[in-house]
Amino acid sequence: MNENIYILGIETSCDDTSAAVLRGRKVLTNIVSSQKIHAEWGGVVPELASRAHHQSIVPVVDMALRRADIDKHQLSAIAYTRGPGLMGSLLVGATFARAMGLGLGIPIIPVHHMEAHILAHFIDDPDMQSPEFPFLCLTVSGGHTQLVLVNGFLDMKVIGQTTDDAAGEAFDKIAKILGLPYPGGPMIDMLAQQGNPHAFRFARPEVPGLDYSFSGLKTSVLYTLEKFQKEDPDFIQKHLNDIAASVQQAIVDTLLKKVKLALEETKCRHLAVAGGVSANSGLRRGLAFLAESMGVSLYVPKPSYCTDNGAMIAIAGYYYYTSDAMRTSSLNPVARWQVGA
Ligand code: KG4
Ligand code: ZN
Repeated sequence: MNENIYILGIETSCDDTSAAVLRGRKVLTNIVSSQKIHAEWGGVVPELASRAHHQSIVPVVDMALRRADIDKHQLSAIAYTRGPGLMGSLLVGATFARAMGLGLGIPIIPVHHMEAHILAHFIDDPDMQSPEFPFLCLTVSGGHTQLVLVNGFLDMKVIGQTTDDAAGEAFDKIAKILGLPYPGGPMIDMLAQQGNPHAFRFARPEVPGLDYSFSGLKTSVLYTLEKFQKEDPDFIQKHLNDIAASVQQAIVDTLLKKVKLALEETKCRHLAVAGGVSANSGLRRGLAFLAESMGVSLYVPKPSYCTDNGAMIAIAGYYYYTSDAMRTSSLNPVARWQVGA
């Protein structure tokens, strides 16, 4: 019966305009238009992002429906990212979803972006295995770094989070120091493959419990490189691969330390990872090693479901649509919103 449920998912929280159509839990289409305009600015410029969403939203949704080979009147519901994210960007997706849903007379489902990153694990895809409940999920993106205890599809509790920068933000800000374009995470990952992760020892800031801190690492990289550059102005260029590998090692070590602690404290036997940074090859290797050594099962989504995408919003919408837990919260976008609230 659920196979006849068609959900359109719309994601516009940051710098990707994305729309996906799901039939049941299967992805028919997942169109992502990534905004290139921010590369030259070293980070996402909110005003440029919302303008670009405006330009892309109609063609992206149209393409998602056409390639899925369905008519919009077949849709059961429209899910969209209500937050957290950039207000101007969220408004574009929310307004579009609301107008389209009202026009078609179908439910409009507000979705939490980070919950959707986690629920991407439940997309029905032959290349992916869904985790068993309860599981621990490390959610690592450009705006968030959290350890989430997931007891059910719509039952999640944050047990640790960053007190300052997110892991993706650390990758991006350090990449900017190195003169690399935004987003810096994939670039550092690529350069790190050719470098020595032990060439430099950057700070790994300590915070109590299951929380994280990354701003000290950024400062440590900045000061270390400034010192070397005084002696050799071309130092960064000459040692770029080793610096990238050492930065990646510091971020991965920091993430893994608290994942290990959280697994010990919660006694979870299942570990998952979600969000853009879960595409990082060093993190994937580190998680695989940790999971193996602790005897827990590891679940990693396909890279296209790690970074921002409409399919994860649609699958989250699917679980709301098929449960009694339709969100009663307001439809209005919110820049800040706690997981599970
Ligand atoms: O989940 P996402 O697409 O958007 C947000 O919700 O923020 O995550 C984007 C973040 C960026 O900081 C980007 O640099 C990082 O994910 N990222 C990576 C990699 N691919 C994307 N960081 C490290 N290594 C990667 N391969
Ligand atoms: Zn995201």
